[in-house]
Amino acid sequence: MKKISADLVVKSIQKVTGKGLHKLHEPLFFGKEKNYIKNTINKNFVSSSGEYVNKFEKKVKKYTKAKFAVAVVNGTQAIYISLKACDVKKNEEVLVPALTFVGTVNAISHLGAEPHFVDSQIENFGINCLKLEKYLDKIIKFKGNKSINKLTGKVIKAIIPVHVFGHPCNIQKIIKIGKKFNLVVVEDAAEALGSFYKKKHLGTFGDVGCISFNGNKIITTGGGGMVITNKKKLAKKIKHLTTTAKIKHKWEYIHDEIGYNFRMPNLNAALGLAQIEKIHIFLKAKRTLFKKYFNVFKNIKGISLYKEPKNARSNYWLQTLILNNNYVNLKNKILAKSHKKLILTRPVWRLINELKPYRKKQKMNLSGAKEIYNKIINLPSSQSLVLK
Ligand SMILES: Cc1ncc(COP(=O)(O)O)c(C=O)c1O
Repeated sequence: MKKISADLVVKSIQKVTGKGLHKLHEPLFFGKEKNYIKNTINKNFVSSSGEYVNKFEKKVKKYTKAKFAVAVVNGTQAIYISLKACDVKKNEEVLVPALTFVGTVNAISHLGAEPHFVDSQIENFGINCLKLEKYLDKIIKFKGNKSINKLTGKVIKAIIPVHVFGHPCNIQKIIKIGKKFNLVVVEDAAEALGSFYKKKHLGTFGDVGCISFNGNKIITTGGGGMVITNKKKLAKKIKHLTTTAKIKHKWEYIHDEIGYNFRMPNLNAALGLAQIEKIHIFLKAKRTLFKKYFNVFKNIKGISLYKEPKNARSNYWLQTLILNNNYVNLKNKILAKSHKKLILTRPVWRLINELKPYRKKQKMNLSGAKEIYNKIINLPSSQSLVLK
């Protein structure tokens, strides 16, 4: 085993990436993207209706085996509209990991609901269920079929498990906790297209699942998102709300509630359709990249490459290094040295409860999330590193 140093880590990354500029994640277009986009222009259908939106939804439905899929403008609005459709109201609390992208939590805030931060665990970067259940046992009192936070007097209405970097959290246990405490479960599967737990696609365990197709995701629509669900009523409500709540009529403009203009444009869906047609190639490339990094890091003491959890088939969207307890002081040195060499490694998100808008929100002990923040570094993970 070799002794770890920041220099050795950076050189090891370069063994996989080669020298020069390497971003964290870049999209790759080599399918029918240009063809499909040209079609939208030729047919004069570039906006929020058109054949590609329907085709893309169908494809995502088929791939994830969700019964329904509704394409929207981005992952954040997918979460927002899912919470709204699940009847999460102003001042109600939503349990959410402190370790997530800020969009997850902003979606709660835009609704006027209250984020309540819960802890994560290094084993899969997801919610620590053991700790969560004990915490909820302590703080919740039941009133009819409602769960009331004894500390705030507010209803705790929902939970958003996040599948971080495309790796499944303990979703089955979270569903159980959701049942016990009357919580709606909105899965943040923004990073998890192509990831499965016990052969079931992530995002299809809870009431609703939300996927992102931002430019940095495993497939992209430029900007975009998708709500997937097995619940017909919810799917109908989400489709209605996201398409300005317009009643079907050949020429009249009749809207029966205050809706949103959240429909994914045809232009973006065209890109998405061409991308999802290649998802098997992207997934294979991600696994190859994992193996390449694994081979260079397996002989360095004090650091390891994160491997998908048991019973999971992850998409390996981002490759992640984990420092052992003794070497957490190297994290910032590795980040600085790699950036100097144009290897754009990244830490995980700053914990959301530490961000200015969220410092005063409810939270449990967050030692697991802090441990993850202190120990991990994400590596350049573009498919192009394999599919050159
Ligand atoms: C975990 C997580 N949640 C939510 C989002 C929000 O998705 P979007 O950027 O499409 O709004 C993202 C990605 O950006 C994400 O990584």
